[in-house]
This record gives sequence, C-alpha cells and structure tokens, in this order.
Amino acid sequence: MIILLFGPPGSGKGTQAAFLARRLGIPAISTGEMLRRECQEGTPLGKEVEHLLATGSLVPDESVKQVLAHRFEHPDIRNGLLLDGYPRTVEQAKFLDQLLTRKKLGIPCIVYLDVPLGILVSRIMSRRQCPECSAIYSTHQFADGWDELCPKDGAQTVRRSDDCEEVIAQRMKAYESQTAPIIEHYSAGDFHRIDAGQSPEQVSEAIGKVFEAEIAYIRNF
Ligand code: AP5
Repeated sequence: MIILLFGPPGSGKGTQAAFLARRLGIPAISTGEMLRRECQEGTPLGKEVEHLLATGSLVPDESVKQVLAHRFEHPDIRNGLLLDGYPRTVEQAKFLDQLLTRKKLGIPCIVYLDVPLGILVSRIMSRRQCPECSAIYSTHQFADGWDELCPKDGAQTVRRSDDCEEVIAQRMKAYESQTAPIIEHYSAGDFHRIDAGQSPEQVSEAIGKVFEAEIAYIRNF
C-alpha cells in the first residue's frame, strides 16, 4: 500500500500522516522532515539546501530523489509507506513511478487534501512543533497558561523557522507553480479529493473511509 498525501502548505499533511500511518501500521515519510534533519545535523546536503528551506523554495529534484531512493532501501517499507510532501514536481512524480515499478511496490493511492487558500496562512502561523518527537500542534490546542509544552514529552514546542508570512508566500507560490500540476499527472489513477477545510477529526474520518477495508483488516489481524 503506497499512499501519497498531497496538498498545499498547511493543508494538514503532517497531522493526518502521523494518524493514518499509525492506523495502517506503515511508516510515514516526510521529505520536509528529512531535509530539516539534514540541516540540523549540518550534513553536506543540509548545508547545500538550508537557504532554500529558509526562503521557501523547493530543493532541486536531484537532491530530493537521492534522499528518497536512500529511504526506500530501509526494510520497514516492505508492507507499504505513506509519503508526505513528495512528489513536489512532475519530474519527482515520474521518478517515483519508476522507483515503485522497480521495487514492485504497486500503484500509489493519492489523497489530496483540498483546503481553501484563505485559511492556510492562519493555520501555519498557529503551528507549533515538538523538537523532540516532531508532533504537530496548533496554538488553539493549548489552554491559556499552558506554556505550549508537548503533552507527550513535556518539551517546549517551537515555531518552524519557515513559518513566517514572507516565506509562507513563497511556499504558496512554489506550490501553485511547481506542485499543483501533479494533480493532472495522477488524476486518472487512484485519486481521492478530501475536503480538508473541516476539523482534523472530520478530515481523519473522511480519509479513514478511503482505507476502510485496510483499517478493518489490520484491526482484525
Ligand atoms: P514541508 O515540511 O513538506 O512543508 P509544507 O509542504 O509547506 O507543508 P507544511 O508542513 O507547512 O504543512 P502540512 O500540510 O504538513 O500541515 P500540518 O499538518 O503541519 O516542506 C518544507 C520545505 O522543505 C519546502 O518548502 C521545501 O523547501 C522542502 N521540501 C520538502 N519536500 C520537498 C520535495 N519533495 N521537493 C523539494 N523540496 C522539498 O498542519 C499545519 C497547522 O494546521 C498545524 O498547526 C496543525 O495543527 C493545523 N491543522 C492541521 N489540520 C487542521 C484542520 N483540519 N483544521 C484546523 N487546523 C489544522
């Protein structure tokens, strides 16, 4: 089972990826998280791409392809995987098609989180993330006087450095010009549009319906 969670910045890919991957017992792979880790660790790739992440531009296809191909060597993907934030260009989509064919992993199922652009910026500005476990929160989830601590491990949650209005505008532009055309690439396949302007619980429920059979199978296993 190969699932591609697709949608603009702030559409809820990371939030839904963690939840869905847990329900299906498959790893969630976020190229954004992988690239941020490279930057934090100061690897050669991290040094090469940190200014791109900081300014909201896409990392060159060649670099991301290498990161993805390397991740596909890990045995934990044998029962499937969920990709969050990849592919981001038609070129990346074609590379993924080849990789899936070569590894006999089957045809991907695309879940498109469709959210009105008007609410994306405020969602992103309210995002906080745990630096320890990477869990994603919204400031709306923190009660007054709660100091925005991660409920799982007590770490102080932080704002992502690319979550500022100027960089968000650039990320939106990159999405519109380079990523949105992917919809055309996949629309004739196993493609599901989800109204992701609803609450996180309602979005999870709508996605759960797409994978009803698989979730039931795992529950009974
Ligand atoms: P990446 O980390 O992938 O960022 P993104 O695509 O901009 O998406 P976000 O992480 O901002 O949003 P999300 O959709 O995951 O929303 P979330 O669940 O967090 O990429 C970062 C950068 O890395 C890129 O700019 C690029 O430079 C580079 N990169 C990554 N992959 C690449 C690739 N393949 N090729 C080239 N470059 C690449 O939710 C957001 C907020 O909303 C949270 O606060 C959450 O709590 C809240 N929320 C979630 N769902 C709901 C809901 N239903 N209702 C209300 N609030 C909600």
